[in-house]
Amino acid sequence: MRTSATRAAAAAAVLLVATGCTRRGNVEPAEPGTAMASDLAGPLIPATTTMTTAWEVPRNPLTDAALDVSPLGEQIRRGYRIFTNTPAEAPAFVHNKLSCGNCHLNAGQRERALPVVGIATAFPEYNKRDARRITLGERVISCFMRSENGSAGAEAPTPASREVLALSAYITWLSQGWAASTSPSWRGRNAIAAAKLIPIDRLDPRRGAALFDEHCSSCHGQDGQGVPIGDKRAGPLWGPDSWNDGAGAARVYTLAGIIRYAMPYLDPGSLSDEQAQEIAAFITSKPRPAYAGKANDYPTVGPPVDAVYYRR
Ligand code: HEC
Ligand code: HEC
Repeated sequence: MRTSATRAAAAAAVLLVATGCTRRGNVEPAEPGTAMASDLAGPLIPATTTMTTAWEVPRNPLTDAALDVSPLGEQIRRGYRIFTNTPAEAPAFVHNKLSCGNCHLNAGQRERALPVVGIATAFPEYNKRDARRITLGERVISCFMRSENGSAGAEAPTPASREVLALSAYITWLSQGWAASTSPSWRGRNAIAAAKLIPIDRLDPRRGAALFDEHCSSCHGQDGQGVPIGDKRAGPLWGPDSWNDGAGAARVYTLAGIIRYAMPYLDPGSLSDEQAQEIAAFITSKPRPAYAGKANDYPTVGPPVDAVYYRR
C-alpha cells in the first residue's frame, strides 16, 4: 500500500515530466499525435492506466489524415478543439473553468471516464430529468448549461448554435462504425453497483474530507480549486468556478461513480465503493453555482435521492 507521501511524490513526478523538466522515468506522457503508449481497450484508453496516458487521444481529428478539408471535416475539428479547451473555445456558454475533457477524459475516449465514443447512435433517448426524449444536441446543451455552468450567462446555447453543432459533429464522428441505435458495451459503466450504494444520510463528509486530503489534494489542492500539471489542470471541484448544482456531477452517486473508476489519476480504481461515496459526499457538501432551472427538473418522478442540492 502506498502512502500519501509517495502518492504526492508520484504526482510531482508527473508534473515535472509534463512541464518538460525531465524526460526520464516511466511516467513520460506521449507527445500529441504520436503512437499510443498503451494498448487500447477496444477504441478506448484503458481505465486502469494512470495519468501518464492523459495526453493520448486514440482518434484525433486534428491529426487524422483521413479527415478531409470539407465543411464537415472543419466542424469536427472545431468540435474537438471545443471539447478539449472549452472555456477558451466556447466562452459565451461557459461560466466556469472546466473543459468537457475534464470529466470526459482523453477527449471523451477513456474507458470508465464517461466516454462519448459510439454513443451518438443511442440518441434520441428518453431522459428522466427532462421527462422526454432528447437529441444528442440537447444532451450537449445540458452539459453546457449545468456542467459548464452556462445557465449563469446571458445567452443560452440552442441546437443550432455553432458550438453545439461542432461538438455533436465530433461525437458523431467518434461513433462512426458503431451500429445504429445501440449502446456500446462501455457505456454507463461509471456507476457504483446498486447493492453497494450507501444511504445518503449515512455518508459522513468528514471522513470524505480526510480521504480527500490523502488521495486528491496533491492535484486538486486543499481548497479543491486544482493545480496545473503541465498543460493540464485538475478542475475546481467546488466553488464559483465549478459545475453547478443542477449537473449530473452534483449528484452524490453519479460523482462517486466518476471518482471510483477514473480517480485518483495516478491509481484509478484503487478506492473502495464506500470511500468513493464518502469523498463524493464531501465534495457535494460544498457550495457551487445555482442552476436556475432546478424547479423544472424531474417533473414526473421527482429528484433522485442523491440529488442533494435539490433538497437544500
Ligand atoms: C495525479 C493528479 C490527480 C489526483 C491525485 C486526482 N486527480 Fe482528479 N483530476 C486530475 C486531472 C489532471 C483532472 C483533469 C482531467 C484532464 O484534464 O485530463 C482531474 C479531474 C477530476 C474530476 C473531473 C472534474 C474536474 O474538476 O476536473 C473529478 C471529479 C476529480 N478529478 C476528482 C478527483 C478525486 C475525488 C480525487 C481523489 C480521490 C482525485 N481527483 C485525484 C488529476 C488528479
Ligand atoms: C463536471 C463534469 C462534466 C463536464 C465538464 C461535462 N460533462 Fe458531459 N457528462 C457528465 C456526466 C456526469 C454525464 C452522465 C450523465 C449524468 O448523469 O448527467 C455526462 C454525460 C454526457 C453525455 C451523454 C453521454 C451518454 O453516454 O449518454 C454527453 C454527450 C456529454 N456529457 C457531453 C459533454 C460535452 C460536449 C461537454 C462540454 C460542453 C461536457 N459533457 C462536459 C459530466 C460532465
